[in-house]
Amino acid sequence: MNQLSPKQLKNLYQQGKNIMSLLRKFEESNQNTEEIIELSYDLQAGSYISALDDESMAKHKAEYGTAIAKEILALCNPKSVLEAGVGEATTLREVIGNLPEKTKAYGFDLCWSRLAHAKLWLNRNSISNVNLCTGSLFKIPFRTNSIDVVYTSHSIEPNGGYEQPILQELYRVTKKYLILLEPGYELASQDAKIWMKYHGYCKNLVKVSREQNYLVTKHELFPVTTNPLNPTAITIIEKKSSSESTECSVLACPKTSSPLWQYDEVLFSPEALCVYPIISGIPCLRSENAIIASYYSELSQRP
Ligand SMILES: C[S@@+](CC[C@H](N)C(=O)[O-])C[C@H]1O[C@@H](n2cnc3c(N)ncnc32)[C@H](O)[C@@H]1O
Repeated sequence: MNQLSPKQLKNLYQQGKNIMSLLRKFEESNQNTEEIIELSYDLQAGSYISALDDESMAKHKAEYGTAIAKEILALCNPKSVLEAGVGEATTLREVIGNLPEKTKAYGFDLCWSRLAHAKLWLNRNSISNVNLCTGSLFKIPFRTNSIDVVYTSHSIEPNGGYEQPILQELYRVTKKYLILLEPGYELASQDAKIWMKYHGYCKNLVKVSREQNYLVTKHELFPVTTNPLNPTAITIIEKKSSSESTECSVLACPKTSSPLWQYDEVLFSPEALCVYPIISGIPCLRSENAIIASYYSELSQRP
């Protein structure tokens, strides 16, 4: 059990400690829970944006995002894209910068602080067409078949052991293509495999996809990668969805996957009869954030 408060962990993070492996040790497990992932990544908030001050890092990020956009455009001209586990939107920004301007862009992440950094940074860079919210890969707050292209970039990574429920959720939300840029365990060297196992990283994404009868059309190492111990692999899954979702409201209640109604300060789920807060402009759409408010719609006025 973790004996340390988030404040103590923040001090340790600022001293350079790896919080995720520390918390795994407390749990005596080689798997990361969502709580471990949220805490350790939230403490890192702002670090991906600061890293771009380094010219070589900024160049790598631009190449990475451009290469992802190229993969997307080779498949379709998407009306909408979603990065699941968007972090500070440093990848998403490069991806959408290489897609047609009218493409609607969405991102969600476990960590509110990372999204808050992302929102400020995107505003500073005059990028206003990105919609961000908090959410979990296990209960994605988007409607079924709502997004043309859903992609991940190293966000399934720390959820090793939970590949199947996460892929199922990602596939549910996808309308046309699901693209995974994740650790290529099966294609990696022995040293990389040992490193990935130690960190509790995901594996077997293709095997799990095929077990679910998903159509995997590509699986290979991605040419743009930085860490030889964590090589990125690209996996493309094609989905032929039969039903069309409405274009206008893509957000969904994470408890029921049903539509949400927008009010000034909250999103209301008429199905689950609960509200989700909007903090500093970021809708908080994790099921744990729900406040039961059975009469909210009767007592409040929609804008
Ligand atoms: C390695 S970072 C990558 C961030 C971003 N995709 C990028 O390319 O810069 C992994 C991100 O995935 C998020 N993440 C991991 N597990 C998640 C989960 N179960 N639900 C939602 N987000 C998750 C983390 O909070 C973190 O921001």
